[in-house]
Amino acid sequence: MPAETQPLFAAEGITKRFGGLVAVSDVSFEISRGEILGLIGPNGAGKSTIFNLISGFYRVTRGRTVFQGQDVSSLPIWKLARIGLARTFQHDSLLKGMTVRDNILVATTQFIRNPAEREKRMSETIDIMGLGEVLDEKASNLPHGHQRILSIAIAFSGRPALLCLDEPLTGFNQTEVLGGLDIIRRLREEFATTVLIVEHNMRAVMSLCDRILVLHHGKLLGSGSPEEVQNDPAIIEAYLGKSE
Ligand SMILES: Nc1ncnc2c1ncn2[C@@H]1O[C@H](COP(=O)(O)OP(=O)(O)O)[C@@H](O)[C@H]1O
Ligand SMILES: [Mg+2]
Repeated sequence: MPAETQPLFAAEGITKRFGGLVAVSDVSFEISRGEILGLIGPNGAGKSTIFNLISGFYRVTRGRTVFQGQDVSSLPIWKLARIGLARTFQHDSLLKGMTVRDNILVATTQFIRNPAEREKRMSETIDIMGLGEVLDEKASNLPHGHQRILSIAIAFSGRPALLCLDEPLTGFNQTEVLGGLDIIRRLREEFATTVLIVEHNMRAVMSLCDRILVLHHGKLLGSGSPEEVQNDPAIIEAYLGKSE
């Protein structure tokens, strides 16, 4: 298949077992280039596990993951980051004792050695993430919202083709949610980044995503546009009707 028409990413019948527990069961889906895809489902549905499988943090028990036409099921997280598939963590992985600037520097250095090019890349990252005012702050001193944005900045430093965000808006107030959504939209518009997002804030997910996958008990319950998903009786029954 020519590169342009091939999906950017495909999960083919992925299954993950933890001992006797099947956390993810035979899940298949594709992510198109330039898409913002949401992954939702009740607690324990398997969202973080799928995330961990896609990003190379866990190995699939069965099935495979394909990125840009290549079987990447057995690649570790750092190799995936090198070829353009990056993720954030639900509980972030900042270098807390270092400044915002140094956190971004460490992340960017993994991808760009040339100092001038690196500076350019860093300014671009700082600019789009809106971190210019807090560059000299220690990461540990940042307000929660800025810490979450910094973890997106770190994951974005390698300019991934696919950026996976695990609950990036958790703990944000209303204004911060709007700011966060704006950043994610700009990543796609200005950098053609494809985004997979797991997020509990339903209003945010519905306004941001082109398409949504609904997971329930480790299985794919359905998928569609935000409108389709919100009007699907099986999905309402399993999830949406009970939340909020
Ligand atoms: N590392 C693990 N070891 C054992 N069980 C796990 C592990 N990670 C997740 N699980 C189990 O897998 C199921 C799905 O969890 P998870 O993917 O975290 O769900 P979600 O992110 O949708 O809340 C849960 O029953 C959870 O307890
Ligand atoms: Mg989770």
